[in-house]
Amino acid sequence: MNGIIQRLDYLKQLGISAIWLSPVYRSPNDDNGYDISDYEQIMAEFGTMEDMEQLIQEAEKREIKIIMDLVVNHTSDEHPWFVESRSSKDNPYRDFYVWRKGIDKDTPPNDLESTFLGSAWQLDETTDDYYLHLFSQKQPDLNWENPAVRNAIYDMMNFWINKGIGGFRMDVIDLVGKIPDKKITGNGPKLHDYLQEMNAQTFGGKDLLTVGETWGATPEIAKLYSDPKRNELSMVFQFEHVALDEEPGKSKWDLRPLQIAELKQVFSKWQTELGDQGWNSLFWNNHDLPRIVSRWGNDRNYRVQSAKMLAILLHMLKGTPYIYQGEEIGMTNRVIQDIKEVEDIESKNMYADRIEKGYTKVEILTSINTKGRDNARTPMQWADIENAGFTTGTPWLAVNDNYPEINVANALADKNSIFYTYQKLIELRKTSPLIVWGSFELLTNTADEVFAYYRHYQGTSWLIVCNFSDQKQAFSLDQTSTETIIANTEKDYSKLSDRTLEPYEAFVVHLSSFKG
Ligand code: GLC
Repeated sequence: MNGIIQRLDYLKQLGISAIWLSPVYRSPNDDNGYDISDYEQIMAEFGTMEDMEQLIQEAEKREIKIIMDLVVNHTSDEHPWFVESRSSKDNPYRDFYVWRKGIDKDTPPNDLESTFLGSAWQLDETTDDYYLHLFSQKQPDLNWENPAVRNAIYDMMNFWINKGIGGFRMDVIDLVGKIPDKKITGNGPKLHDYLQEMNAQTFGGKDLLTVGETWGATPEIAKLYSDPKRNELSMVFQFEHVALDEEPGKSKWDLRPLQIAELKQVFSKWQTELGDQGWNSLFWNNHDLPRIVSRWGNDRNYRVQSAKMLAILLHMLKGTPYIYQGEEIGMTNRVIQDIKEVEDIESKNMYADRIEKGYTKVEILTSINTKGRDNARTPMQWADIENAGFTTGTPWLAVNDNYPEINVANALADKNSIFYTYQKLIELRKTSPLIVWGSFELLTNTADEVFAYYRHYQGTSWLIVCNFSDQKQAFSLDQTSTETIIANTEKDYSKLSDRTLEPYEAFVVHLSSFKG
């Protein structure tokens, strides 16, 4: 907490309006804080409630809001509610969780699987019933059908709202309407009723931001969450683009190269189909995803160029952008050589499962180095000093070896750094209604690797052109521009015909007059 307070001026300089904190509540840390044992206490490693209150106030002084992670699909098995719940069948907290009889002592109620592999049901010896855990065994699922559970959650949310936070990021919120007996997990029938109830009892009518993590959302479903008339959430995180480099129908670990044509198609769909009814988030990264410059950019020969291209492409779209710590300085994945270096429960479980299934270590480590969640979770790189300036103690994950080069101090000292591209993009978004409200139109007559689109707003048109490859690409458009809004080169863009784009070149121009 105090570390973040020390860095608020840096974040102010970057220009952001809010900080989404991954869970900072008390937790035994089976899943990096996503297993909460007390929603109204701060994890000791992070500080105290006084530190938290100070963070909220100090951020507020800089016009930055604090968004809390709301993890209410499940708690930790060490949460007092679960400790009570498992103690006997007639405990008042029994129905706070999802308990079922097994088919027999060795056979769970059905074959629902946990996201972290294995059965989603765990036998509890005390009462000989099974409890549901859609994530780890230490993350029992709350029973949202019980109004007492929902009310306890709303009370907790109001506790945080009263502390002056700016909103909630809602962890796997699309699972809370589950009907485990019918094997329905995502998008259950009562999901939207619950969210409307939550809205009415907590943040509704207040100036708070709410964003739901909704893995199963289509544009139609996203409108249900985010149409202001429905009084649910401000926006969603949807993940369709994130799955494009995995084998269809398999898991995130089954890799295939990204096809830019598919990325264009998915982004265009979301840009157009939400219309005026829904609102989307824009992101490349978060604590669950690998670093984008290593994933879809090129972190060896074109780190700076490709990181800037990715930033420009994303920030010119319609929606609310989210930047993950270190993305603004082009931090990269950290390559591991051995499973012993891994902290993340998801990667560890997958490793054990695939070793048993006969995959080679090399194959599995390739998947982890490409997609594992620890890639993004290494300490933030502040400077070329011990532990990159993140801590004087021992960090929970090793610092990336490239910290002497890639760090905030270097980024701030170099006026051409990735940081200043992000800063400019954030500023543009705050000053240009076209970026916020303009319509989107994809250019279709380009090379596959060139991702180009228009934004149109009240008679003004901008053109965004991004070379999404490490090769030169041809680009030609029979139009002229009056102004370069932002670019990752020093070139002149007044004429747009017969151009050669350098690897990862990106630019945004104001068109003289749009010829549609
Ligand atoms: C979300 C979080 C992830 C966590 C999971 C279970 O997907 O982003 O980090 O492991 O939910 O809470």
